[in-house]
Amino acid sequence: MNYRGRCPKTDMTFSLAKSTLRKKAFNGLLLFVGWCLLGSCQSETKTKTYRIGFSQCTGADEWRKTMLSDMKRELTFHPNCTLLYEDAGNSTARQISQINTLIDRGIDLLIVSPNEVAPFAKVIEDVFKRGIPVILLDRKIETESYNAYIGGDNVEIGRLAGVFIGNHLRGKGRVVEVWGLPSSSPAQERHRGLHEELAKYPGIRVVKELNGQWERDTVRRVVAAELSTLKEADLVFAHNDVMALGAYAVCMQNGLQQNLDFVGIDALPGPNAGMQAITDGILKASFLYPTGGEEAIETATRILAGKSVKREQILNSIQIDGSNIRALKAQSDKLLAQQADIEKQSQRIDALTQTYASQKNTLYITLASLLVVMLLGAWALYLFRSKQAAYRTLENQNEEIRQQKDKIEAVSQQARLATEEKLRFYSYISHEFNTPLSLILTPTEDLLTKKTVSTHDLKSNLALIQKNAYRLLRLIDQMLDLRKTDAGKQRLRTSEQDLVAFIEDIVVDFRRKAEKQRIDLQFIPSKPSLLVWFDDEKLDKVIVNLLSNAFKYTPRGGLIHIRLDVQDTQVCIQVEDNGEGMTPDEQAHAFDLFFSGTRPFNLSKGLGLALSMEFIQLHQGEITVQSEKNKGTTFTILLPLGNAHLSEEEIDRSGFRNALKEGIAISPRFLVDIDEEDVAAPPDPIKKQLGTLLVVEDNDDIRTFLTTRLGHEFDIIAESTGEKGWERAIDVIPDLIISDIMLPGMDGMQLTQRVKADLRTSHIPVVLLTAKGQMEQRIEGTRAGADAYITKPFNTTYLLEVLRTTLANREKWQRRYASDFLSQAGAGNRQDKKFLNELTGLIEQNLTDPDFGVEKLSRDMGLSRVQLYRKVQALLDMNVIDYVAEIRLKKARRLLAESTKTMAEIAYETGFSSPAYFTTFFKQHTQKTPSEYRKSPAGV
Ligand code: FRU
Repeated sequence: MNYRGRCPKTDMTFSLAKSTLRKKAFNGLLLFVGWCLLGSCQSETKTKTYRIGFSQCTGADEWRKTMLSDMKRELTFHPNCTLLYEDAGNSTARQISQINTLIDRGIDLLIVSPNEVAPFAKVIEDVFKRGIPVILLDRKIETESYNAYIGGDNVEIGRLAGVFIGNHLRGKGRVVEVWGLPSSSPAQERHRGLHEELAKYPGIRVVKELNGQWERDTVRRVVAAELSTLKEADLVFAHNDVMALGAYAVCMQNGLQQNLDFVGIDALPGPNAGMQAITDGILKASFLYPTGGEEAIETATRILAGKSVKREQILNSIQIDGSNIRALKAQSDKLLAQQADIEKQSQRIDALTQTYASQKNTLYITLASLLVVMLLGAWALYLFRSKQAAYRTLENQNEEIRQQKDKIEAVSQQARLATEEKLRFYSYISHEFNTPLSLILTPTEDLLTKKTVSTHDLKSNLALIQKNAYRLLRLIDQMLDLRKTDAGKQRLRTSEQDLVAFIEDIVVDFRRKAEKQRIDLQFIPSKPSLLVWFDDEKLDKVIVNLLSNAFKYTPRGGLIHIRLDVQDTQVCIQVEDNGEGMTPDEQAHAFDLFFSGTRPFNLSKGLGLALSMEFIQLHQGEITVQSEKNKGTTFTILLPLGNAHLSEEEIDRSGFRNALKEGIAISPRFLVDIDEEDVAAPPDPIKKQLGTLLVVEDNDDIRTFLTTRLGHEFDIIAESTGEKGWERAIDVIPDLIISDIMLPGMDGMQLTQRVKADLRTSHIPVVLLTAKGQMEQRIEGTRAGADAYITKPFNTTYLLEVLRTTLANREKWQRRYASDFLSQAGAGNRQDKKFLNELTGLIEQNLTDPDFGVEKLSRDMGLSRVQLYRKVQALLDMNVIDYVAEIRLKKARRLLAESTKTMAEIAYETGFSSPAYFTTFFKQHTQKTPSEYRKSPAGV
């Protein structure tokens, strides 16, 4: 049986693992929680715990029970001690065996209340030798191997009993002594003390000694056997109250109690015990015999704590009899009540401790759970943050990918645009080369095919050839410059020169051209001379290019002013014109090489301005443009003064200046004087047999050449744009149109479509002229209604042949068309058929009106007289009046053949003012009179 202290107050401390749980949080968390829970359940104290073994000879009687409860009560103050209790049931052998068992169970101290004196010496010595402290309680043994003895002074108690008996019997009487176990030390000592004292009373005699063995039952038996002795006795003295009361009970049963007095030892409080028996008058006296339970535990704890103890602890005893029983009983009752209270308190404390422990556990579990929740929360937060971080990283990566994708798309878009622009560039380079080549080849072939050539023709053709050869040269020069620029090989070669004289020199070359075009060309320098470091070859190209552009876009009578000024450390050159100007878009891209804005690509201009910018930037200068549509354009160049901005390689100190004059470079200035006017043909006196030809061509040279070359056979009307061409076509209704496909604004295809879609012009053949020979363009041109297609460079003879054939075909078709139409079998162009249907319908509706004529007809058709005449002439190869007459005759014939109407009726119905005029007119056209015709209509 184990007895243990209350659940002690613990010094539980949590040492929270402060390690970063971030990374291995979950594993750590589980470990940590386990640790917490384990810790909370164990409630471990750091105080050392002890196991106290208690070997009791017997636990059956009240005195021994009181001893055990005294021990337990004391134990409550020593919660680190556990009591291992063994009850031997009055058996010495068993008690020895139990002691050995206790030793085997690992006790730290042994308390023993031995059954007998002698047999225990060895076992206790063995225990003692093992280093296990031994406390003897109540009874002694024959060895010195113990740490402490605790118990009453039994000899003294025996003496006290002797004194009481001597007094009580007044020195005379017979006494029966009832022994405890004779082999136990209290019995022996009590007997000794009694007899020592009774020896003082010779009149008192112990008549009988009975062996009660401390037990009620044994006493009853032995007393019952000695009733005769007891009849003669005056007093029974038992070694304890239990035996005294046992003897009393037997005596009472036998009616002997009246003459007998009873005295015992122990004086235990409580019902059925010594004190109560004294109160009840059963016992005459008893002697308080303390159990020593409390003291035993207290001494044990001191020994275990290493403290010194008193080896022989003799407990006091007092006599209790009728004289003091009241007070003592009251006190002991009170003590019992207090002890009961203490028990209750203790139980309550135990209960509270348990509650506390369970609450503590609950609290720990709650705290642990809270901690788990917090850690899980932290974990969740960590995961959330990690996720967010991962999400942000992903977002950033996505953003980067998106940006890269955008970049790639932008780059690929740029590459695509660059490729497109390059293709356009190549295509236009071909075009640009094609035009001067055409203008070299065409007049050359022209001269070669002619048997005789006039001086004028020779000169004008050679001038054209020369001009275009130079133009080719300039193009190639620009291309080379561009290639050098692209490859970063353009090098500046500057020298210090008078910029005023330099520009004056260039301007002089443009004087003649300005005079011819009535342009106010002025050079306005702010100083008479100005020394500037520049590359003359490059600056020459820039200024000539700007002047050429100004001339190209400035109309007759306009102005071109060149200003030269010094602004701080810079020189400012401005080329200003009041020509056609640029749109904001054109202005923004003026210096872009491949810009393809609203205007068609102009290579010479594009190259020129792009190169100009490159050249000025090489000079560490700036070039800008300011322009307004229909107001004019100003180019501004800023060049730094001095040569501090130039590197040593860029400065040429050789003294050889002006590469142009040395013939090293080709200046575009060589082209300045060669004008279309120089090659314009003189008016041709020969009659134009083939009709009016409208030429729509934006290239001045080709337009001029065609005008000159075809002017022998056609009346030429020449226009440079599709819009102007269309206006002239409506106005003049030409017999034939030649148009370039590539035109600014309305191109050749659109012009053809318009011509073919309009009633007034749908009959006019259109020949498309282009540098491009691609099949798609031909198909497109044919779809637009073009009648023929000629690729540049063209052979003039072939061109003329195509024009002639087209016109001849037209005539053939006209004749067939006229006859087909008059016989109502009409064929050909849908627009033309519609036109003729409308015209014929109008004429037929108005046949009876003698006043109906061309005037009214043209008004009703929505055309001018001239347009009507030309259209009818072109479609039917006859004039309008003849066509009206034909329709009258046709109707008259039908009426004559198919009706019985009179001549007069028919004459009025067909719009003749009188039957006589009808007859004359009919005869003139059919060689028969109406009457003759009525008789035999066939054959006419
Ligand atoms: C109890 C008891 C007591 C007595 C003591 C002596 O067992 O008999 O009554 O005083 O033992 O050891």
